[in-house]
Amino acid sequence: MTKTDRDTRNYSVLGHEIMTRIETLASHTEQEGEMTRTYMTAAHRGAASQIASWMSEAGMAVREDAVGNVIGRYEGTDPGSAILMTGSHFDTVRDGGKYDGPLGILLPIACVAEWNRQGKRFPFPIEVVAFCEEEGVRFKAPLLGSRAIAGSFDKSVLENVDDQGVTMREAMISAGLDPTQLDAAAMSKGDIAAYLEVHIEQGPVLLEENRGLGVVTAISGSSRFMLELQGVAGHAGTVPMASRNDTVMAGAEIALYIEKRCNESPGLVGTVGQFNVPNGAGNVIPGHAVMSIDIRAGEDSIRRSAVDDIQAEIDSICTRRGIRKSLEKTYEAASVACASWLQQSLEESMERHGCTPRRLPSGAGHDGMIIADIAPMAMLFVRCGNGGISHNPGETMSAEDAALASQVFADFVENFSATEPV
Ligand code: GLV
Ligand code: MN
Ligand code: MN
Repeated sequence: MTKTDRDTRNYSVLGHEIMTRIETLASHTEQEGEMTRTYMTAAHRGAASQIASWMSEAGMAVREDAVGNVIGRYEGTDPGSAILMTGSHFDTVRDGGKYDGPLGILLPIACVAEWNRQGKRFPFPIEVVAFCEEEGVRFKAPLLGSRAIAGSFDKSVLENVDDQGVTMREAMISAGLDPTQLDAAAMSKGDIAAYLEVHIEQGPVLLEENRGLGVVTAISGSSRFMLELQGVAGHAGTVPMASRNDTVMAGAEIALYIEKRCNESPGLVGTVGQFNVPNGAGNVIPGHAVMSIDIRAGEDSIRRSAVDDIQAEIDSICTRRGIRKSLEKTYEAASVACASWLQQSLEESMERHGCTPRRLPSGAGHDGMIIADIAPMAMLFVRCGNGGISHNPGETMSAEDAALASQVFADFVENFSATEPV
């Protein structure tokens, strides 16, 4: 058996181990039968301690910072060297998939465990970060874990409340964290030589092209809003159509405009993912509705121009329908480019393992877009199965692709040099 055959067989074992662990991690869910794990719930705390014990078994020193990131450090031989950081998030959307996030934590843990078995060390330390929160589900504030590390955590979100009225601050304290120590979680420019995140693609491109892996060029920017519409509640049977101030009809017209506007530019996407009618009933004209709006594009100018048009249209629709409105921007992020020297290194690693390089943008947001504020950032995408579906229980990927991604990730690390080539 050649060394390459032996390596491939080892990585095949790692691929299966990663998939098994993803299943184990998925058992930490708020709701039996679905994958829901939001920030600081019992399921989330259970997942954090499971990840910590895997990190420690893999030979890493484990710590938890004040926001709840679990960080495993595999020490290097050069004490002065900056960190090679990798990781992803372990929170999920409600009724989402098992792979979105955990792959990028469990894959590097498996590779570190392998290096540890072989007694292999690098000049630089490797830190695997299990980011505690990326999706923004429970407290309507995303990317909490990476923001704490990048030093851009907005402390006003500690007062955000969940659906039960619990503040983020209260949830952190009940879980044993100390929000007054958040600043200590921050790292500085220079601490991290590079950040590489492995993540499922969450789309169909690699699947349709029959490729296991892709190198991300940039992460799309996004603008998110909550729109509250106030009309007049009334009797569904008695008020003539022309006399209504119906918030659902206004919201529907706004949603359809968003669809039409976003169809005008390739790469521009718009989503109304929440549409609530508080106290609504089948026989009452809805006097109050609340909807979310999420607009994204690879190019910031395209996104901004769509947002301007959508705001103007919201004004005009609400004026015409006699609806009062309040539009609150909940999140805005510019598009972030991946470091070209890291893209190049990833491509070289792919080529050494028989993959033709393929570059593609990421429409989804990732922790890497925040870490890019303090370190050069790159992402390796792994093919999804099942049409590329994600944020859906049908999300899937294969053990073979987990193995291939581990090989390429390991190759990248083994050939990593902390300085950008000139
Ligand atoms: C995260 O999954 C996002 O892109 O919303
Ligand atoms: Mn994700
Ligand atoms: Mn996600």
